[in-house]
Formats: sequence, structure tokens, C-alpha cells
Amino acid sequence: MTIAPAQRTGSTVWTDARLILALEEVVETELNRHLAIAKEWMPHEYIPWSQGRDFDGVLGGEAWALEQSKVTPLGRIALVVNLLTEDNLPSYHHEIATMFGREGAWGTWVHRWTAEEGRHGIALRDYLLATRAVDPVALERARMEHMAEGFQSDNSHSMLHSVAYVAFQELATRISHRNTGHYAGDPLCEQLLAKIANDENLHMVFYRNLLKAALEIAPDLAMQAVRDVVTDFRMPGHGMPGFERSAAQIAIGGIYNLRIHHDDVLQPVLRHLKVMEIGGLGPAGLQAQQELGLFLEGLDTQATRFDERQAALLARRAANAARK
Ligand SMILES: [Fe+2]
Ligand SMILES: [Fe+2]
Repeated sequence: MTIAPAQRTGSTVWTDARLILALEEVVETELNRHLAIAKEWMPHEYIPWSQGRDFDGVLGGEAWALEQSKVTPLGRIALVVNLLTEDNLPSYHHEIATMFGREGAWGTWVHRWTAEEGRHGIALRDYLLATRAVDPVALERARMEHMAEGFQSDNSHSMLHSVAYVAFQELATRISHRNTGHYAGDPLCEQLLAKIANDENLHMVFYRNLLKAALEIAPDLAMQAVRDVVTDFRMPGHGMPGFERSAAQIAIGGIYNLRIHHDDVLQPVLRHLKVMEIGGLGPAGLQAQQELGLFLEGLDTQATRFDERQAALLARRAANAARK
């Protein structure tokens, strides 16, 4: 377990170990709530197996070719990013098992969450291969490269930072899957991604409720953690091959960009937790709250500039297409 430097809030000196213990009851409540509402679903039911056939190589089938893919070019890019992100689950499991532990309610959550996330990678890969949506050789090579790099969280130094990060990141993943489905151009793909997005939403609710409890137990430290993760946020897949290029296309295409990040990910969580309205903070918490407010204003301005650039680019593309 990583132990953050001891810090004093009121009369309690909070360490990671103490916070984990203090939140155990909340974890148990949230785990039970999650288990009661998370309905079992079968990934194999969402895959159009009848569209599948042998590939070249060992079985001497047909090699993949671009024209076999029925999803849009944007859908292809986003589906690969989403799947490679899901593929790095062993590293994520290691991160949270090390941080939250494998005992009691925390441990049950860590393993249950891992099992649910495992389903996402399985289902996405089955869909992509059965429908020949993406190049299977490029996909496998990218997976090997990405997983062989491993993943280390920016927040492994502190459990409060880790909880705050995943509250936003699970929602970001939900939105990303949902919008990918929307733009993929195949109703079956959209149906599968909506199902996965629903799981991500339940994960977000679990962590958001945990963050709410942390803001009540240790408000100054939790506020600082929220400020740090919001101002420094990056998606877990940032290390994958070609991420910057893919992320730019995903942004322009409207699957995930600054506007969506601000409006559909940061603000809903912050508003739900009433983060900007929390009172009674000490100097460090108050400063973090003010810095968070300033950052959000700046981000909104940046997002507006992005909106304008995006609109101009799309208008130019439409004009070019009309000329051809
Ligand atoms: Fe997932
Ligand atoms: Fe998730």
C-alpha cells in the first residue's frame, strides 16, 4: 500500500491507511447497492457471430481488407482506442489492488470491478473480429505494444487522488463508449457500446459516492485531491501507440473533446457533489476550491475556442466535399 504523507484535518491526522479504514463502511454500502442494481448480461448475445468467418494464416481463410469494415473511419479509430484502453486491465487491477487492498469490502469491490471490466474487452474484441471492423493484425500488434508498456497511474501516491480520478475517469469512459457507438455507423455496435457504457456509469456512481464520503470525512484533503486530478486529468490510454493522433480525430469527430470533458464529465460530478459550494474549509482546502473554480473557467474558455475551431474545420471539410 502506498502511504501518503500524514496530514492533519481538524483533530485527525489522515493517512491513506486511516482513510481506507474510515471509508470501509461506505465501500460496503456502495458495493451492496452496486450488486443489487448491476444486472447480469451476456456479452456473446451482442455479437453477430453469423457475420464471422476464418481469417488467412493457419486456417487459410480470407485476409482482412478495409472494404470489409462496415463501421465509419472515425468509429474504427475510437473502437481501437477504447479496446486498447480496456485491454490494459491487468495493470489497472494491479494499481487498485495495491492501493485499496484485497481484503474485506474493498477487496470484493476490486475483484468484482475487474471482472466487469474484463467483460468489456472481451465483448469489444469479439465484435471487432466477428464483423471484421478493424485490421486484426494491427490490433494485436498495438495490444502487445500497449500492454508491454504497462500502466502506472498518475495518482498512485494517494488513495484520495485515486478515488477522485476514477470518479471522473469512469464517466469519461462511459461517454467515450456511448459516443463511439453513436458515430460507428452500425446499430449492433451502438447497442453493445450502450451496454458497456451502462456498466461504466455504475462504476462512476460507486466512486462518486465514495468521493462524497471522503469530502465529508476529510474535506480539505479531498478538495485538494479533486483540484489536482481535475487540473491534471488525462485518459488512461494516453500511452498507447498513436494516441495523440487518434485523440485529435476523436476530438474533431465529437466523440471526446474539451467541450464534452467540461460539460459531460467534470461538471456533472462536481455539481452532484456540490464541490464548489462546500463550506467550512481550512486554508488549504479553500485555496484548492478557488483554484479549481479558476481552472474550470479557463477550461470553459478553451473549450469554446475548440468549438469554434471544430466548427470551422467541419465547414471547410463540407465545402471541399461539396466541390468534389
Ligand atoms: Fe470498461
Ligand atoms: Fe468502468
